[in-house]
Amino acid sequence: MPNNSQKEIQNAILKLKEQQNAILLVHNYQRPEIQDIADFLGDSLGLAKQAAQTDADIIVFCGVEFMAETAKILSPEKMVLLPERDADCPMANMVSDEEILEMQKKHPDAKVVSYVNTTASVKAVSDVCCTSSNAVQVVKNIDADKIIFTPDKNLGFWVKRFVDKEMILWDGFCYVHHRITPEDIKKSKQKMPEASVIVHPECRPEVADLADRVESTGGMVKFARETEAKKIIVGTESGILHRLKKESPDKEFYTAGPPRICQNMKKITLESVLKALQKVQYKIEVPEKIAKPAKITLDKMLNFS
Ligand code: 13P
Ligand code: SF4
Repeated sequence: MPNNSQKEIQNAILKLKEQQNAILLVHNYQRPEIQDIADFLGDSLGLAKQAAQTDADIIVFCGVEFMAETAKILSPEKMVLLPERDADCPMANMVSDEEILEMQKKHPDAKVVSYVNTTASVKAVSDVCCTSSNAVQVVKNIDADKIIFTPDKNLGFWVKRFVDKEMILWDGFCYVHHRITPEDIKKSKQKMPEASVIVHPECRPEVADLADRVESTGGMVKFARETEAKKIIVGTESGILHRLKKESPDKEFYTAGPPRICQNMKKITLESVLKALQKVQYKIEVPEKIAKPAKITLDKMLNFS
């Protein structure tokens, strides 16, 4: 429950948002008090779709930089604000456009599938993008038998299980999900053998092996609503538990091992969202020569989804 001062800030945000015809797009890992005032709360794919179709003038993106950049590329005529300048995703910086171009030279018969957790310049030199919820679909549908998959090797390993294609995996990973261990899952299961286990595909393959379902954050919300299980062990960033509990109050949710926190996602606070609207900061800009080809790879992804 937000306290009184949080409520005051929430109200101030809601008022300014209306005056400025702005919307708040919020990722499932954001702080509870930000999730509660979202116009749309979702996973990377859901947020990208909302950004592409909104008629608001301003998008305030509560997530990390690559998500706000994606929104700007998909809706170039809108103003996109990221409330904290340095809220970025470390995995998005694990591969560069130069490295992709080099890989393409080495493997001219391969197509490059890049996770949306990449910079705009990487998207610009890739053949198509994907998110955790459509990666299998995208790799299956892209017209190539050889795929260079960047940057998340764990998502790549997950996709590999479902496609009969040669996949060259980049060596990137998410520091939050990589810390979840098979022991975390086994110990939770020992305590609650009746519980279902859901994990994110950014988790290691040995962790995915122990799960009942491997889902994007949006997929986790849907699974929790629909399952008969009353206890659910969740292997992802712990911010999602707020939404899971709120939308499925009849069920119990537990983190797999200690709560895992993405410090980058948590840089955004109610105060910074308010400041973003008051000072119109921090504007996301993507140079046209990068935004144009990056939009083609994102549009291709949306067409596959
Ligand atoms: P989702 O698209 O599943 O929400 O994942 C985004 C992300 O950054 C996971 O770490
Ligand atoms: Fe990036 Fe991992 Fe944080 Fe997601 S949870 S934003 S992949 S660091």
